Amino acid sequence: MHQSAHIQEARDYILNRINTKPVTGMILGSGLGALADEIENATVIPYTDIPYFAQSEAIGHANELVIGELMGQTVVAMKGRLHYYEGFTLDEVTFPVRIMKALGVEKLIITNACGAINTSFEPGQLMLITDHINLVGNNPLMGPNNAELGVRFPDVSQVYNRELRSIALEVAEEQNVSLQQGVYAWWSGPAYETPAEIRMIRTMGADAVGMSTVPEAIVAIHGGMKVLGISCLTNMACGILDQPLSHDEVIEVAAKVKTTFIGLVKGILQKM
Ligand code: 6GU
Repeated sequence: MHQSAHIQEARDYILNRINTKPVTGMILGSGLGALADEIENATVIPYTDIPYFAQSEAIGHANELVIGELMGQTVVAMKGRLHYYEGFTLDEVTFPVRIMKALGVEKLIITNACGAINTSFEPGQLMLITDHINLVGNNPLMGPNNAELGVRFPDVSQVYNRELRSIALEVAEEQNVSLQQGVYAWWSGPAYETPAEIRMIRTMGADAVGMSTVPEAIVAIHGGMKVLGISCLTNMACGILDQPLSHDEVIEVAAKVKTTFIGLVKGILQKM
């Protein structure tokens, strides 16, 4: 459970370093951190400086909170996220979302790199998350509920906000970006799925699979935030093509999509 006192201490530390009030939050996944470099008048705060904030060891993650202006909005971006597979508790993984909420953030854009299960998808495409499946057998809200932060049994009938999704689709069309839509399944990792597991996950109704996003989205909903989820489909999931997966491939494809991804998110920010 997130302790109100810890959240307030972390929030106050950040407030002392900025003189603006962020309204939109962004969690930038593997290879997608470059969007944070576009933020103007940026205050960059290393995670290690923030009370109770954990640090990721994942490759390609900068571990910095970047606060500033982007497309006329004050934003707070996580350049690099914390993953469950790194051994963090889900409290640690989702603590940044609580802080964003405490800073006044009402809308959260969550991004990730993930594997495509739907065979009509292609590596290098982006996918708007319409819903998710939690396959991990844990939930960030497990434990006593802190009623100051949200209700005991949050409604999750619309985790990925419909209005924000329709803005994203509009912007994609304007920019001629092929934006797929689908269900994201959360797999703990760090091992990828076996081909048999991918067959199972496909049967369950998922279009893509990854190792993040769902815990942050659940906590954001618990806190009453509006969530938008965008995945970069970096590769086909295991067993769909008869070839092994590598993290290098994931980073490489995410880097190629970077420009399109940045353009799309900036366009969305302008309209939301
Ligand atoms: Cl195929 N699976 C998972 N869990 N995460 C990924 C992925 C696959 N490809 C990129 N990230």
